[in-house]
Amino acid sequence: MVNAVYPGTFDPITNGHIDMVVRATKMFEKVIVAVADSTGKQPLFHFQERVELARQVLSDLPGVEVVGFNTLLVDFAKKHHARVILRGLRAVSDYEYEFQLAGMNRNLDPDIETIFLTSDEHYAFLSSSLVKEVARLGGDVTKFLPQQVIAEIKRKLG
Ligand code: COA
Repeated sequence: MVNAVYPGTFDPITNGHIDMVVRATKMFEKVIVAVADSTGKQPLFHFQERVELARQVLSDLPGVEVVGFNTLLVDFAKKHHARVILRGLRAVSDYEYEFQLAGMNRNLDPDIETIFLTSDEHYAFLSSSLVKEVARLGGDVTKFLPQQVIAEIKRKLG
């Protein structure tokens, strides 16, 4: 029985992330969605808001837990008895960065493996930044975000 950690900034969580989590629940006993506090990005949503939004939209999924973290990812994974880090690959361009991340994490802790899932074709072009830009400019984001997130993003952007 293996637990997996699915890490990210989740600023905000999108339907693409949710698709990954749903698919991961079929493979792992527990999926811990790990919301990173400090990632070098300048998030629109505060740390606690990102955690809360992810919790709300994933609350119906059994075997899924949402936890915020501000440590090394491998330390977080070990603390939560997870032997797998799960990452999504949307396009070939993701590969180089993900290869580096996986290599560094394996060096830090060789007992934790990174596993990749290719994103669903409907979400291959999706990123939190793009969705935020579309929302900011008044575009329709209903296909990309769950209802709770749409409401929050509208509130944030006035
Ligand atoms: N559907 C939709 N969007 C997706 C997606 C999917 N399936 N998969 C990735 N994305 C998007 C994300 O929304 C994000 O978009 P953005 O850049 O516009 O915000 C982008 O692809 C990838 O970012 P994200 O998934 O948030 O990952 P990240 O690269 O920002 O996160 C961490 C990196 C948090 C995993 C990494 O910084 C980390 O591990 N930090 C902890 C500290 C640590 O251990 N550092 C050393 C690591 S070697």
